[in-house]
Amino acid sequence: MKKTNFKTVMTVLAIGFASISVSFLTSCSKSNKSSSTSTTMTLYDSLGGTTMVKDPISTSGAMIETGRLGLRSVVDSTIFVIAGDTSLNKKFFSVLLGEVGSKNYSGFEELSKNLTDFFCVATGAKDYTYSGLSMTNAHNPATNPRMGTKAAAADFDKFVGDLAAGAAQNKVPSDLVLNHIAPLVYTLEGQVVQK
Ligand code: HEM
Repeated sequence: MKKTNFKTVMTVLAIGFASISVSFLTSCSKSNKSSSTSTTMTLYDSLGGTTMVKDPISTSGAMIETGRLGLRSVVDSTIFVIAGDTSLNKKFFSVLLGEVGSKNYSGFEELSKNLTDFFCVATGAKDYTYSGLSMTNAHNPATNPRMGTKAAAADFDKFVGDLAAGAAQNKVPSDLVLNHIAPLVYTLEGQVVQK
């Protein structure tokens, strides 16, 4: 994406987040230095890291890492935002929407898991692995028939806007989204945008 475009997206995100103040986490990439050791916090640590909590959607009382719970919540909210975004929904996600429309949630559950795994690994989680398609294959209709058509840079910007909205719904602070999550996501643009 061109620099000016990136700036515009960041400005829009900044305005969108201006009113959000509730704290979701502490801070990011902090160095915690003692006399002989130095620990660098990952983005995953900033999202709550490995602290175990009850999984609110588990019916069997399963526990989940706080970092993963935060990321899964953002992922699920973002999927719902995208489902309502007429510039992306039918064009790219018609297979998924068709399934959900007929009360088949298997594709949704798999997408939620794969996206959550992906973001866990990308933010520095140590206890999860991503086993889905490569970013290039996931976003090429020839290798992933669930991808409606190839995405352009403008579609990518819309996707990031929807991700920011999903993060805002979960009270992720604007600083974290603007300075850490959005730049991380934009490192993947070259693999996702294929036209
Ligand atoms: C950096 C941003 C993005 C990331 C990290 C990402 C990540 C992923 C992942 C992990 C999957 C699942 C792959 C699998 O199941 O093996 C996926 C699927 C998909 N992505 Fe993306 N994606 C991004 C951007 C986009 C954009 C911009 C679009 C379209 C505008 C898009 C459309 C899709 C579609 C349609 C699927 C298939 C959904 C389904 O399973 O029904 N993604 N993406």
